[in-house]
Amino acid sequence: MKVVVGIGGSVAAYKACILVRRLVRAGSEVRCVLTENGAKMVSATALAALSRNPVLTDLFDSGQWEMAHLSLASWAERVVVAPASADLLSRLAAGRAGGPVECVVLSTKAPVFVAPAMDTDMWSHPATQANVERLRAFGCRILGPTEGELASGRIGMGRLLEPEEIARAVLA
Ligand SMILES: Cc1cc2nc3c(=O)[nH]c(=O)nc-3n(C[C@H](O)[C@H](O)[C@H](O)COP(=O)(O)O)c2cc1C
Repeated sequence: MKVVVGIGGSVAAYKACILVRRLVRAGSEVRCVLTENGAKMVSATALAALSRNPVLTDLFDSGQWEMAHLSLASWAERVVVAPASADLLSRLAAGRAGGPVECVVLSTKAPVFVAPAMDTDMWSHPATQANVERLRAFGCRILGPTEGELASGRIGMGRLLEPEEIARAVLA
């Protein structure tokens, strides 16, 4: 399975490394795409090493003729955004295309899975819930979040679904 993993600027971004590892172990070919703020949470180098492929971080970084975001969108058999921050969710729901993750999601014909991760109050806000409903209406499959310990130390809804469960859902 050819899988594009999009990673947003949630503190759970480090778990994308585990997700990539699981997908590769299951025999998938994985290409990672990082938002600008995602790259502040987890390194492109780690994701490149784990996926054994270059990581797309900047729409404008190559100087090549090829448009990497479009190539990845058509190459993918599955696209999974994990973690999706509240802000990334809102951009995806609005159909925006200012960054590499949004461009891939907007232009792919592959099934898209979105795994949100954020603090409880951000998750329960009507704006976030409306964004999630809008993404569902577009055909995206929303994976999680779950209840549990959050990075803030609080216990509540908003925790990223375990990478193993995300991998299972994406490959099913
Ligand atoms: C330490 C830290 C942790 C954060 N964790 C989250 C998070 O788990 N979920 C979230 O939605 N935003 C979180 N934020 C806020 C996002 O980083 C911010 O909204 C950012 O614009 C999201 O980037 P993205 O749109 O590329 O995903 C966090 C910010 C900081 C500084």
